[in-house]
Amino acid sequence: MSDLANNKTVKKPADVVQIFDTTLRDGEQAAGINLNVQEKVEIATQLARMRVDVIEAGFAAASPGDFACIEGVAKAVEGLTTVTSLARTLETDIRAAADSLKGAQHPRIHTFIATSDLHLEYKLKMTREKVLEQVRMAVPLARSLVPEVEFSAEDASRSNPDFLIQVFRAAVEGGATILNIPDTVGYAMPEEFSRFVKTIIDGVNAPPEVIYSVHAHNDLGLAVANSLAAVKAGVRQVECTMNGMGERGGNAAMEEIAMGIKTRRDYLGVTVNLDTTRLVAVSRQVSNLAGLPIPPNKPIVGSNAFAHEAGIHQHGVLANRATYEVMRAEDVGAEAAVMVLGKHSGRNGLKDLLIKLGYHTLTEEQIDRAFACFKRLCDAKKDVSQGDIEALVAVEVLSVSPESRYELTRLEYETHSVGVVALVTLSHHGQDISASAIGNGPINAACRAVQSAIGIDTRLETFGLAATSPETSTQGECRMSISYKGINASGRGLSTDVVEASVKAFINAVNNIYILAAAREIKINGE
Ligand code: KIV
Ligand code: ZN
Repeated sequence: MSDLANNKTVKKPADVVQIFDTTLRDGEQAAGINLNVQEKVEIATQLARMRVDVIEAGFAAASPGDFACIEGVAKAVEGLTTVTSLARTLETDIRAAADSLKGAQHPRIHTFIATSDLHLEYKLKMTREKVLEQVRMAVPLARSLVPEVEFSAEDASRSNPDFLIQVFRAAVEGGATILNIPDTVGYAMPEEFSRFVKTIIDGVNAPPEVIYSVHAHNDLGLAVANSLAAVKAGVRQVECTMNGMGERGGNAAMEEIAMGIKTRRDYLGVTVNLDTTRLVAVSRQVSNLAGLPIPPNKPIVGSNAFAHEAGIHQHGVLANRATYEVMRAEDVGAEAAVMVLGKHSGRNGLKDLLIKLGYHTLTEEQIDRAFACFKRLCDAKKDVSQGDIEALVAVEVLSVSPESRYELTRLEYETHSVGVVALVTLSHHGQDISASAIGNGPINAACRAVQSAIGIDTRLETFGLAATSPETSTQGECRMSISYKGINASGRGLSTDVVEASVKAFINAVNNIYILAAAREIKINGE
């Protein structure tokens, strides 16, 4: 057994539901989301500060990028939080997961295989016997490498209960102490799921150290309801993501699960370790970094979650909050004082604010960069809000890799009868390079000028512009994805000028193309 396998696991009290966050793995599988190592480490640090019990940082065998993210998160997360990597029941996956978790204080391998006949026949092309054989090989191997192993039966809710019980027993015999019952396609109904979970728990009849977990998807909008129904049936770990981010309709939303458990302790009889007063701050950070806006009516973390517009409600709330509120805004951090900075604020003021907002992993260089961007923003915009600063850190600091090659230093454009002429200057390893181009609009002309300055011919895949706040003097955020020789990369740019925001997003995407090309040992223009 390796040293890693001997580390102590954390004891789990019977009346506490463990919060397993999979924002960085299943959440990131949502279409259009792509988080880099710095962004994932920042989110993981925040999740650990909020006392999430388990962070699933990625799927180590999926790509070198995922492996690097898990390594980064494993080293950064301190305290009681467990860090895990997903792995199929394959030796290569399990070894990659264990390697990626070497720096973790509390590592866990999360291995899975599908158990429904539908998946066995059409996806795995395996017999039930073969699935059992893989579980009997993979779980003990994982357990020989790390102290804690979770086993998930993908598509469990559509699996034959007797077979599922057999598979879970094999996993327990192999050393798994967490058995996860996913509703992979969000098909289950709460009452039915609760009965199903109970049948499985009774049927497996595992020793007391084994805890059951659920992982619900939101295809029918029932992920949270199904998860809470399973808690009532006896599960003590819930897998979820911040803001419910995830593939298709998403995953169960952590903020809703946690507040459901806390608010209805009278009914569910359990609690969570989570510091729920950090929920709003972490939700905003994830939304900014992932570029997924939070709808105003989103429970717990939406901007309207504690707003009362109707006079009759306001009257009731003023007389006694319990009339229309089942929880307090301060319990989820929704009433945190709004802090603002202006053009006379110094670097220390900004650093203080960033720490209050929960950005603890920023280096001094990143704070310098944030401060330079903040000063430029103060010149362009009269009132700089907390939201502006959060957007600035997400887009201008954390989404820009230290390995970036090009940065915009000057942009000018003019409309002529032939079209728009743009001139750009980029800094490249300390040297300025300039080029101009004509286009049918300013964004098109400026991006062509960038292509000509760098000497790269990329293809635009997606493009989107959005305001970062509802005010008229807001900043515009551009997100685009481009491709070059089969490499796809996305980029983000922020500015009070949407043309500049778009050019910055384009340059960010080109920088990411270079980074991805280097990881695949592909040279572009000799670099
Ligand atoms: O949805 C699912 O079944 C999963 C498993 C890999 C846990 O994400
Ligand atoms: Zn899932």
